[in-house]
Amino acid sequence: MKITLSVLKADIGSIGGHIKPSQALVDEVRNFVSQNGKNLIIDYYISSTGDDIAILCTHERGVLDEKIHKLAWDAFLAGTAVAKKQGLYGAGQDLLKDSFSGNIKGMGPAVAEMEFEERPNEPFIFFAADKTDPGAYNLPFYLAFADPMYCAGLLLSPKMSEGFTFRIIDVSYTEKDKVIELRAPEETYDIATLLRDNEKYVIESIFSRNTGNQAAAISTTRLHNIAGKYTGKDDPVALVRVQGEFPATGEVLAPFEIGHYVAGFMRGSHIGPLMPCKLNATISYFDGPPVLTGAAFSVKEGKLTEPADVFDHPFWDTVRSEVAAKAMAIRRQGFSGAAMLPFSELEYGGVVEKLAKLEKKFKLRD
Ligand code: 13P
Ligand code: 13P
Ligand code: MG
Ligand code: MG
Repeated sequence: MKITLSVLKADIGSIGGHIKPSQALVDEVRNFVSQNGKNLIIDYYISSTGDDIAILCTHERGVLDEKIHKLAWDAFLAGTAVAKKQGLYGAGQDLLKDSFSGNIKGMGPAVAEMEFEERPNEPFIFFAADKTDPGAYNLPFYLAFADPMYCAGLLLSPKMSEGFTFRIIDVSYTEKDKVIELRAPEETYDIATLLRDNEKYVIESIFSRNTGNQAAAISTTRLHNIAGKYTGKDDPVALVRVQGEFPATGEVLAPFEIGHYVAGFMRGSHIGPLMPCKLNATISYFDGPPVLTGAAFSVKEGKLTEPADVFDHPFWDTVRSEVAAKAMAIRRQGFSGAAMLPFSELEYGGVVEKLAKLEKKFKLRD
């Protein structure tokens, strides 16, 4: 059976700043999807990561389906009404357009979708990150799909012997989608050359070269490219099929042990380490640190099992302690150098305005 996995995610308001959505908001979105998704979706799962709420659903309508996207958009509008009523912070923050036009891409919410022929057993992981941008997945997915130091299956499994194709998008180009396909292992240096720049080049999808089947889909929305100014961080989602011709679940998780530094800490303007957290994690220290949650599922004819929380294990407690230490280490240098994002990525007008004012006061010395 051919099914589509769609995850659509938005920040539509949160309690106490950018911490977490209220229970009433989450309930409203869940009720809306449950009532209006009949005859449209097969199954769904509503969750939050930091202040973002995600609708994961299964259906048979393919990617970029107008009715599925409209369902999510309307659910986010219904949730926004609750957020406004409760006085939540940033109510409707990610809904950047006034009216729905065909699909939700480019309207603010993050979207990741995959259509595929369901395998007899079909495991996948749904990742959601808060306080960061889509490039946060570049390094871990590169390591999980192209580096045998992390993915033993590249050596051990004949089903993965040919490697993977990476489709990478230049998110700074906004006229059209500007994409390139590169193959690992032959082109790993080219892949790494692009993926080092998390703010410009982003993995959009990954495909098995043995079967041609899609392994991963990542949301690539850069909000500041839509709104032209800071309206919140992108907070990307990803779907990754695992096992068989794809990396094992643990191979996909392994690189997240690094807690690598990503963009998006405090006011979307600082660098912080990505902390793998339990499902429905909230936000705290310095509006962060940037967090990642992972829910693993099995799916049969579109019906989802309950989620397995991939970062709810004693192993990740140690990782979280180390990531917290990394977060404090970089915060100790405040606004200086590598701790803050470069000018081009600064998400607030304040620095820009100050620099313009100061520029006039500079004197040229002979
Ligand atoms: P305010 O400047 O409105 O407090 O918002 C800051 C912020 O949290 C950015 O999203
Ligand atoms: P969000 O994009 O998660 O709303 O974060 C905004 C922010 O600036 C927090 O400091
Ligand atoms: Mg927010
Ligand atoms: Mg957020």
